[in-house]
Amino acid sequence: KRVVLAYSGGLDTSVILKWLQVEYGCEVVTFTADLGQGEELEPVRGKAQMAGVKDEHIFIDDLREEFVRDYVFPMFRANAVYEGLYLLGTSIARPLISKRQIEIAHEVGADAVAHGATGKGNDQVRFELGYYGLDPDIKVIAPWREWELTSRSRLIEFAEAHQIPVAKDKRGEAPFSTDANLLHTSSEGKVLEDPWEETPDYVYSRTDNPEDAPDTPEYVEMDFEHGDAVAINGVALSPANLLTKLNALGKTHGIGRLDLVENRFVGMKSRGMYETPGGTILLSAHRGIEQLTLDRGAMHLKDELMPRYAELIYNGLWFSPEREMLQAAIDSSQAGVTGTVRLKLYKGSVDVVGRKADVAYNLYSQDVVTFEDDAGAYDQRDAEGFIKLNALRLRLLGRRTR
Ligand code: ARG
Ligand code: SIN
Repeated sequence: KRVVLAYSGGLDTSVILKWLQVEYGCEVVTFTADLGQGEELEPVRGKAQMAGVKDEHIFIDDLREEFVRDYVFPMFRANAVYEGLYLLGTSIARPLISKRQIEIAHEVGADAVAHGATGKGNDQVRFELGYYGLDPDIKVIAPWREWELTSRSRLIEFAEAHQIPVAKDKRGEAPFSTDANLLHTSSEGKVLEDPWEETPDYVYSRTDNPEDAPDTPEYVEMDFEHGDAVAINGVALSPANLLTKLNALGKTHGIGRLDLVENRFVGMKSRGMYETPGGTILLSAHRGIEQLTLDRGAMHLKDELMPRYAELIYNGLWFSPEREMLQAAIDSSQAGVTGTVRLKLYKGSVDVVGRKADVAYNLYSQDVVTFEDDAGAYDQRDAEGFIKLNALRLRLLGRRTR
């Protein structure tokens, strides 16, 4: 029996690795995805080796470009946010991890996959809907739902009993439940479990406090082509490099912090803290270029579909026909979303302060809209009939009630 474990090298998945070997008696293959979590991943190899995993069974894959190009960017074309605020940083990473994990299972001839998500959350659903969608016969092992280590304290006892190092946070405590990638870092648990308690400063890890951010604003220009960001300040960048650059800008100006109580798919509410510095800038910039280049009908339909699309991603249905249908519609709307946005970053905020697009893409007409003499570009007399016909039903209603 051989199982591919989604292995971060952190406490939980290190315990799971040992537990699968000891309690389940399986040969474990580890898979660690580099999604830009901002940690050195080579130490993970050493940890897996120490636990007795064979060299050819340790997979550490750099998936950063694929993550941003094929998951983050398509999602941002939709301006997707869950429950009005959450930029889906964890949700969008899970399908890619599932996909690569199943590929590895096939490569090494494993019949099972395992993950470290608990039985209470969204991540278990996302991983497993991904697995089953890509391999209907795969066996799934979710240790958190099976084992007797029913709390973090018991997990730590098991770790200590098996010489698994328990990393401490800055304050010398066992860490929060965190998840990080190029798009965001999330923290849940511990002090955050009281939704009345303000998130303490030490929880933030990748943005500077907006209160301490520079007193002078910074201006940034971003170029878009067909709905995707392609350059910053005139410098063309690959998707992952572009998001990395936006993250650095967002960090300095304290952009993208979010404290949220959200509805998990399994039915409970949970409180989390998110930092999405580059993504927050990207969302605002993308809306900025759509303002100039996207037709009203297309824009409004997109905005209606967006909450459905965001919910599909949140609930783990990336690999589903309905997500693909919506994606096709969203992608087709982006054909003309090409141009440049100027942004102002200042103490936690990002504002679109300028936008421009080539005549081939621009739908904004100053000749038409101007309050000055429009030289016949628009005939104001046309508006009278437009309003009268729109008013017809209101007037008939008015007469009836009178
Ligand atoms: N609540 C967020 C979501 O469902 C973040 C989950 C964080 N995951 C984690 N393993 N700490 O997308
Ligand atoms: C977990 O339960 O493992 C993390 C939180 C979530 O998936 O929602």
